[in-house]
Formats: sequence, structure tokens, C-alpha cells
Amino acid sequence: MLKKKIEEALNAQINAEMWSAYLYLSMAAYCHAQGQPGMGKWFEVQFKEEQDHAKILFNYVISRNGKVDLRPIEAVPTEWNSILNVFEHSLRHEQSITESINKLFALTSAENDYATQSMLQWFIDEQVEEEENVQTIIDNLNMIKDNGYGIYMIDKELGQRTYKAASPLV
Ligand code: FEO
Repeated sequence: MLKKKIEEALNAQINAEMWSAYLYLSMAAYCHAQGQPGMGKWFEVQFKEEQDHAKILFNYVISRNGKVDLRPIEAVPTEWNSILNVFEHSLRHEQSITESINKLFALTSAENDYATQSMLQWFIDEQVEEEENVQTIIDNLNMIKDNGYGIYMIDKELGQRTYKAASPLV
């Protein structure tokens, strides 16, 4: 049985992951509108991965006989100044998610809930990859600046990304 404090924090994280999904869908729409279909597709894959993250937590709460509490998803931004600005926002967002996962992990230590802590280890590792991927795209965009051919090539490369379930826990 989950302790109430842990259940509450997991439900808040489910909402944060769903908000992330919604944010990335909005970023996908922005990229498509800017004539960058590959980047749009890249964010669509992010959208699906974030739903997976929410689902992993959802499955876990149920498996521990907890109560899933699905809350409203707040509105997300819909406009950015540039493609670079979108990816920078994405990195800041991932950093804030890393922080909330770290807090959740610390809470499981304080509450001696090692089963939840073990499940969260996957998220700790995933966040390293999430931040690294976005940072690489930002570095590439900064390198090419306004070079149209360079942007075209990055868009093409990002469009190669395909979705696969984030983990067997989904
Ligand atoms: Fe669910 Fe991108 O962190």
C-alpha cells in the first residue's frame, strides 16, 4: 500500500508528465507552422514519450493499490520567438522535470519507500538522456545560426526519429 504522501507526489508527477506531453504537442504544431516538418515530427515523438512516462507512473500507482487522481492539464504556451527558442524552452522544461523527479526520489528515501524509489531509478536515468538530446540539438542550431542549408539538414535528421515505447513498464 502506498503512503498518502507518496501517492500524492506520484499523482502530481503524472500531471506534470501529461502537461509535458501537451507542451511538446504545442511545440510540434509551432515547428510545423514554421515549415520545419522534421522538428515537428521530433516533438510529436516527445509527445508520445511523455504520455508513456505518465502511463508508467499510472501503472505503478495501480500496482501498489493506490488511487490514481487525474487532474486538469493547464494551458501550455503556443508561441515562441524562433526554432532555437523552442528547443531552449524544451531544455529548461526537462531540467525542471529532473528537479521534480529528484525531489520525488528524495521523498521515497525519507519515507523508506524503496519499491517506489526503485521504479523511479528509470526516470532518473531517462532524464539524463532527455537533457543530453535537447542540448545536442541546441548546440547544433547555435553552430549553424541562420544558415538555411544547415537548418534544412537538421530538420531532415530530426525527422528520422521514430517512436518506440519508452520502457516495458508502459
Ligand atoms: Fe517525462 Fe521529458 O520527461
